[in-house]
Amino acid sequence: MPAQLIDGKALAEKILLDLKNKIAKLKRRPGLAAILIGDDPASILYIKNKKLACEKIGLNFHAYFYGNKTAPNITQQQIIEMISWLNSDDKVDGIIVQLPIPKKFNSQNIINKIKLEKDVDGFRRLKNINSLVNYDVLSPPLIEAVKAALKSTSQNLSGKTAVIICNSPIFSEPMKTSLEKNNIKVKIIKPEKNFSEETKKADILIIILGKKYFIKQSMVKPNAIVIDIGTNLIGKNKWAGDVDPKVAQVASWLTPVPGGIGPLTVTYLLKNVYDLALKNQKSKTI
Ligand code: GUN
Repeated sequence: MPAQLIDGKALAEKILLDLKNKIAKLKRRPGLAAILIGDDPASILYIKNKKLACEKIGLNFHAYFYGNKTAPNITQQQIIEMISWLNSDDKVDGIIVQLPIPKKFNSQNIINKIKLEKDVDGFRRLKNINSLVNYDVLSPPLIEAVKAALKSTSQNLSGKTAVIICNSPIFSEPMKTSLEKNNIKVKIIKPEKNFSEETKKADILIIILGKKYFIKQSMVKPNAIVIDIGTNLIGKNKWAGDVDPKVAQVASWLTPVPGGIGPLTVTYLLKNVYDLALKNQKSKTI
């Protein structure tokens, strides 16, 4: 039997509707600021979808684009100055830097400049998390999206093995921590020699590489749950994941691209913006 597809779009629509109703009750329209550096097609798509989703549910969206043509000489310092300005802008409740950014920049250093209270992506790395007594660090939307996708399968995943194929610790480390909290054994691997020996052991296979159809049927354990976080442009407005669609013949569950993890990630991002705006509103009325 072919894999069941996890309909991220449908799951996301329900959450968005609930958010829209809650946002309508706020005294002030919350705002999300997004910084896009470079011309990565998947990032441009993500930013477009984030903007559309914000408009749909009543959030303000402030976009700052530094394209390869429009801002070829932008420096890390200038990006940091922009973040610092947004950190102190009362109209902005959350800030994101869309990843990946060009290799000449240090992504983690840039993200770490986002004020903790506005880190809606939850990608800041904190040296001493225990020193933050009164602040709940937000969970990354990408992690929440994967959790929601796994939950929708209604499978008991305790004691199962997950393999994450990813080159960036910004994504893979919080993902590992989150899965481990649910008693799942996790291994992070890079797409290097013999990696398929590892993928074939995975009950849950998570891939975020940006390489079209990289995961083939032969690399997947029968009945695995496969979570595809790749977004690759394959034609005009046509997108493909990191997982070959033929994997559906061996997996038990699969997130489609488009329509799987993408819409869920966008939705959980907006939820984080709402949660912060609510918190800011409360702290100002006290
Ligand atoms: N690139 C792919 N997914 C994400 C995400 O959730 N946040 C950011 N900032 N960049 C991404």
